[in-house]
Amino acid sequence: MSRHDQALGIRPEKSSSRAPTLVQAPPLLVANAGTLSDQHGLHRTLVDLASARYKSGGRFSYHFARGKLGIDPLFIDLLRLGEFPAHGRFLDLGCGQAVFASWLLAARQCFEVGTWPAGWAPPPIVESLHGLELMPSDVARAQAALADEPHVRIEQGDICHADFELVDVITIFDVLHYFGPEAQDDVLRRIRAALRPGGKLVARVGDAAGGLRFSLSRWVDQAVTFVRGHGFSPMYCRSVSEWAHALESLGFEVQTIRTEGGPPFANTMLIARLPLDGAHA
Ligand SMILES: C[S@@+](CC[C@H](N)C(=O)[O-])C[C@H]1O[C@@H](n2cnc3c(N)ncnc32)[C@H](O)[C@@H]1O
Repeated sequence: MSRHDQALGIRPEKSSSRAPTLVQAPPLLVANAGTLSDQHGLHRTLVDLASARYKSGGRFSYHFARGKLGIDPLFIDLLRLGEFPAHGRFLDLGCGQAVFASWLLAARQCFEVGTWPAGWAPPPIVESLHGLELMPSDVARAQAALADEPHVRIEQGDICHADFELVDVITIFDVLHYFGPEAQDDVLRRIRAALRPGGKLVARVGDAAGGLRFSLSRWVDQAVTFVRGHGFSPMYCRSVSEWAHALESLGFEVQTIRTEGGPPFANTMLIARLPLDGAHA
C-alpha cells in the first residue's frame, strides 16, 4: 500500500487488478497540470476513495460507483477545469446514487493530504450538497453511502416539481432529456432563479446534432433506463447550440466542452455562469 493510500485510509482490494481502465485526459486540458502519470494516479486514488463508501450498500452499489467514476471522464474533467468556487453550496439534480457528491468529498480529502496535481485549482470545500433524485432505490443507496456526511443531504423528489433552494452551484448531469421541452425550460428557469449572483450551472447533455455518436449514446441510455426501472421512456434531446441558446436567453454566459476520452458518445458539458452583479436577462 502506498503512503498516499495509507494517509487517505484506502485499503488495497483483492480485485484491484480488475479496476476500470483509466481514460486518457484530453490533451487540451492537461497543460500545467502535472504529468499524465500523476493524473492517472490521482484518478485511480479518487475512484478508490469515492467508491469505497458504497461497499456497505452491496456489490451493485459499489461496482456501479467504480464503473461510473472510472470510465466517465466527466468527473476528472470537472476537477481539472477548476470551475467550482473555493467553497460553496451545491445542488445536484437527478443525482442518481450521488457519485458526484462522493467524488467531490474524495477530491477534497486528496487535496488535504497533498495528493493534488500542481497547477490545478483546489477542489471546493462543500458547505452543503443537496442531491435530488426520482428513483427511491438510487436515493437509498446514496443515503446509505453518505450517511456519515453532515453536509450532504440526498432526498427523493421530482425536479420538475421540487423547490430549489438558493445555492452557488447547480449540477445536472445526463438528466435534462428525461422530460419534455416545456418542463426542461421550466427547470432551467428555476435553476436560474436558485443561483446566487456569480453562480454556475454545470450541465451535461447529449448533443442531438452529434450524428452517430449521439445515436449510440441514446441507444445505450435507453437500455440503461430500462434496466434501472424507468421502462422505455421517451427522450427529449436538443443540440448543444439549442441548449446554449436557451441558457443565454436566461442571462447565462455559456461555455461548451465536449467529453472526450470515454465511450464514443456525443456528450457535452455546458458551463453556464451568471454575472456577479446578479443582473437578469
Ligand atoms: C443517467 S442518470 C445520471 C445520474 C447522475 N446525474 C450521475 O451523473 O451519476 C439520470 C438520473 O436522472 C434521474 N431523473 C430523471 N428524471 C428525473 C426527475 N424528474 N427528477 C429527479 N430525477 C430524475 C434518473 O432517475 C437518473 O437517476
